[in-house]
Amino acid sequence: MNNNPQQLQGVGLAVRGLHKSFDGQEILKGVNLEVQPGEIFVIMGPSGSGKSVLLKHLIGLESPDAGEILINGESITTPEIAAKYRMALVFQSGALLNSLTVGENVGLYLTEHRLRPPAEIAEIVVEKLTDVGLKDAVDKMPAELSGGMKKRAAIARALVIEPQLILYDEPTSELDPVSAVVIGNEILHLNRRIHVTSLVVSHDRDLAFGVADRIAVIIDGQIVTVGTPDQVKNYHDPRVQEFLHADFKREK
Ligand SMILES: Nc1ncnc2c1ncn2[C@@H]1O[C@H](COP(=O)(O)OP(=O)(O)OP(=O)(O)O)[C@@H](O)[C@H]1O
Ligand SMILES: [Mg+2]
Repeated sequence: MNNNPQQLQGVGLAVRGLHKSFDGQEILKGVNLEVQPGEIFVIMGPSGSGKSVLLKHLIGLESPDAGEILINGESITTPEIAAKYRMALVFQSGALLNSLTVGENVGLYLTEHRLRPPAEIAEIVVEKLTDVGLKDAVDKMPAELSGGMKKRAAIARALVIEPQLILYDEPTSELDPVSAVVIGNEILHLNRRIHVTSLVVSHDRDLAFGVADRIAVIIDGQIVTVGTPDQVKNYHDPRVQEFLHADFKREK
């Protein structure tokens, strides 16, 4: 595989005026975003605000009613783009196949497309599992892994294509706080080591403030603010503050 850091450089991503309605109801109301190459960009917002719908547009699972998505300035609807840039999605569930070992899961894409001889695939699998601290799990079955280990295996599987853009969908959902920190550190580590552009969709406030270079807050289909964690923390909009500081109210 290509280990030249120059060629592993992350890509830039731009979303311009994205609109999407379902059954007459407008879900995305003109979303604009600019993600810089190599940046860790977190999109956070309350449940139902349109995060997953936005993510589905970025990977081509949904097409916009209006607006465009650009990678390094090129529209993702052009046919060549899929071949030109490598994007990986880390699914919320991990989505490992239960009948295969962890190593087989990680190497599946290369094996299925016969991209490398088996011995080389085995080497790559160990390399990617080592990247996420799971080298010893290569021969384990997914059922033997904890939730956090499954997420890390899913990241290793994404790394196999040497992505220039990694999209993480709720990477810490269903994890305890310590495992969530491990995943957050993994996102940071990979971003710094291979300079991959990382886009994280999450409502985990600790994760967002822990890893983001910049954060966008989406509420009701619109980006309300974009900025560094400090800028977002101090953004005086009642909806943003309510989302950031929602807490339990116990009677004293
Ligand atoms: N295929 C679809 N058809 C109709 N409505 C949809 C479809 N996909 C999403 N929606 C609606 O769009 C809105 C936003 O959904 P979305 O899944 O993007 O929310 P979210 O911000 O990801 O929330 P969560 O944090 O709970 O995952 C919801 O009201 C949802 O019902
Ligand atoms: Mg969602």
